[in-house]
Amino acid sequence: MKMEVQSLPAGIANLAQHEQRARETLDPAAWAYLCGAAGRGITERANRAAWESVTLVPRVLASLEGLDTRTQLLGRAMASPLIAAPVAFQQLAHRDAEVGTALAAAAQEAGMVLSQQASTPLEAVADAVAADSRRGPLWLQMYWQADRSAVAALADRARASGYEALVLTVDSTVRSGFHLPAGLVAPNMPAAPAAQDLRSLCAAAPTWHELEWLCANAPLPVIVKGILHPDDARHARACGAAAIVVSNHGGRTLDGAAATATMLPRVAEALDGAVPLLVDGGIRSGTDVLKALALGARAVMIGRPIVWGLTNAGARGVAHVLRLLRDELEIAMAQCGCANLARVHGDLIAPIDASAQSLRNERTT
Ligand code: FNR
Repeated sequence: MKMEVQSLPAGIANLAQHEQRARETLDPAAWAYLCGAAGRGITERANRAAWESVTLVPRVLASLEGLDTRTQLLGRAMASPLIAAPVAFQQLAHRDAEVGTALAAAAQEAGMVLSQQASTPLEAVADAVAADSRRGPLWLQMYWQADRSAVAALADRARASGYEALVLTVDSTVRSGFHLPAGLVAPNMPAAPAAQDLRSLCAAAPTWHELEWLCANAPLPVIVKGILHPDDARHARACGAAAIVVSNHGGRTLDGAAATATMLPRVAEALDGAVPLLVDGGIRSGTDVLKALALGARAVMIGRPIVWGLTNAGARGVAHVLRLLRDELEIAMAQCGCANLARVHGDLIAPIDASAQSLRNERTT
């Protein structure tokens, strides 16, 4: 695929400007799908408000020599703890689509998760970054399929083309229908049955047995995405999950689900470091990333801001978004007295006193 490097429109120097510009550029129907939320948007707003209500207690006079955002995840080195979340149908945002996002993530040495509902064949995305020895991890997100042999075939395809892990999304058994605009395809999805009512979707939904089977039989480590309850995190770990993503799908499934920043510390406590923990939902700044790490995450996934960057300048725009977040993280680390991510601990987070708790409740309702 031939890709032209597009320059960034003038006047975009932060994520808010990326969002504003993408909103002005995208066709309203595409914006509604790509950046919308479920129901009344309660969870989507709560995600952002919860990060805002967590506050940092900076440490002073610590040595900042060798300031560095590098980290390790499942045995892979990354320039920062940033991962492009699985986001379906990126062709709707820009012709560079998922290949553009993968190239941008590779250039930033960040991670990339390809959605099974991508508009690009998974092999084409892997091929685009295969030769880049410095790139971050490349994972394939999948939904459970009623037919185990289809799951196994997809997992084999992923492994054969260079994906390093499977991300099983478990929080959207029941997804609201979305009618693909003409010309948009989902080449990694099985052909959907003509009509899927709630009962048949529920009957085909995976359970812990399926997770256990996948962890035991997949040719790649299995990461479970979409957990909020600490007991579910423990259960997923017991089934063999290699990592867990605290996520509510960016508020796109259950409207009214708890904010991820609220549940992250409880899940972290339950897992006690047994497997790496990731989080996503409403992460919009370097300070949000730092808060997530201080609350127990090893890395974070970024959803809608990737779409904004892609809309605004294709691969170049996604690279800009990832770079902005990394630079902001670096500055926040310096301001908090952390020269590297190993120094980021829970004591960076301000204790919640009664007045802060009532303010937090007000802001998330
Ligand atoms: C998503 N998300 C998602 N998740 C997943 O597991 N598979 C998918 O195919 C998709 N598709 C998708 C499409 C679009 C347009 C969006 C915005 C999101 C959810 C995504 O991976 C992630 O959990 C959230 O986007 C994180 O929240 P923020 O950063 O968007 O607030």
